[in-house]
Amino acid sequence: MRIFVSLLKNTNPKIEYYSRFSPSPLSIKQFLDFGRDNACEKTSYMFLRKELPVRLANTMKEVNLLPDNLLSQPSIRLVQKWYMQSFVELLDYENRKPEDPHALNDFLDLLIEIRNRHNDVVPTMAQGVIEYKEKFGFDPFISSNIQYFLDRFYTNRVSFRMLINQHTLLFGNDTNPLHPKHIGSIDPTCSVAEVVSDAYDTAKMLCEKYYLAAPELKIEEFNMKAPDKPIQAVYVPSHLFHMLFELFKNSMRATVELHENSEEGLPPVKAKVTLGKEDLSVKISDRGGGVPLRKIDRLFNYMYSTAPTPSLEPGVVPLAGFGYGLPISRLYARYFQGDLKLYSMEGVGTDAVIYLKALSSESFERLPVFNKSALRHYKTSPEADDWSNPSKEPRDANPMSSRHGDGKEERAPRKDQSERSYNSLEV
Ligand SMILES: Nc1ncnc2c1ncn2[C@@H]1O[C@H](COP(=O)(O)OP(=O)(O)OP(=O)(O)O)[C@@H](O)[C@H]1O
Ligand SMILES: [Mg+2]
Repeated sequence: MRIFVSLLKNTNPKIEYYSRFSPSPLSIKQFLDFGRDNACEKTSYMFLRKELPVRLANTMKEVNLLPDNLLSQPSIRLVQKWYMQSFVELLDYENRKPEDPHALNDFLDLLIEIRNRHNDVVPTMAQGVIEYKEKFGFDPFISSNIQYFLDRFYTNRVSFRMLINQHTLLFGNDTNPLHPKHIGSIDPTCSVAEVVSDAYDTAKMLCEKYYLAAPELKIEEFNMKAPDKPIQAVYVPSHLFHMLFELFKNSMRATVELHENSEEGLPPVKAKVTLGKEDLSVKISDRGGGVPLRKIDRLFNYMYSTAPTPSLEPGVVPLAGFGYGLPISRLYARYFQGDLKLYSMEGVGTDAVIYLKALSSESFERLPVFNKSALRHYKTSPEADDWSNPSKEPRDANPMSSRHGDGKEERAPRKDQSERSYNSLEV
């Protein structure tokens, strides 16, 4: 602990320094062009030894803005320690010239070590939030801050791993012989329907294990650009797989739970892949009974899941658990300027659509930047609702009693009002 505190003292000015730089977003095309044309390890080294500390420092500044009660949870401290250690280790390369005979190899080894160290950041952070929730319950202001923070923190992590993976795959020994055409983690001719099938198969295995049954898949394609050709994307297949796998798990769970005892069997899950001028979209449709409109937004909340909290034992993969499936998938989609949306009809089923940019030159990383606007988010309390808020019981039987001279209804104190709307969440 003492070592950690002294480390903090010496490192804080460096965090300050690097956090003043904005991260430099790259497009998929730039990743691809760099990796294709005789990728130069020295150039990548020179870029990363500054860009990685910049991205780390930007996110570490935001971690420090979390409420003390959350920061003091053991899991969150652990995550902070990992970040600090990785940041310090990267600083060793600040002044090491790429000509130094060991610099490039040592740097590559360090990146692999850092990647491994950060493997469990998401479940550990989730555990920290659960610890906090159990001890302190819900505060709507803090909950909205956590939501804002986690979206940015996890996006930063995705981007950090993307940079590390590109470097280690291009210059290390971990190139995948199964995919010789991939440029790092990017597939320049990624068959979207194939990834859809793979994600479906994996989710199906899991679903059959839990429910002993799984709905069938029907895939359809519509290629507006070249009607008879299969749709290909320039994309990171592992990101696409992740999103689709999460959507399939959700659709299968909803379908099986609604139709388990139905005589007609399980209605299939449908996938439609379309390519237009701007968007490449994938729609996953199920007949799992849907979700009421009122609840759609909260499905993207990191603190919401209808499934029981899963066991944190290593090696146990739950079909549904933390409630992170949708929010993390959406930030993968948004990371390269796409999006993920749910359209549901209660009583029938849900369409989940992943939107990706059709052009790799438009797929720029979307990165959180630590600046004054970000700071403001953590400091200002939420505004009182400026739309009417139906309450079951009138606050005062005499409609005139709480009015001011200007005829406007007196607002409930901010905290009360937001608490009321939050308490109504079935979390
Ligand atoms: N296709 C769907 N049909 C009906 N409900 C859905 C569907 N997709 C999501 N939901 C609801 O949204 C909730 C949140 O989904 P999400 O994938 O984010 O978390 P989860 O499935 O509960 O846990 P996990 O982290 O394992 O994915 C689910 O618990 C479920 O109630
Ligand atoms: Mg899920």
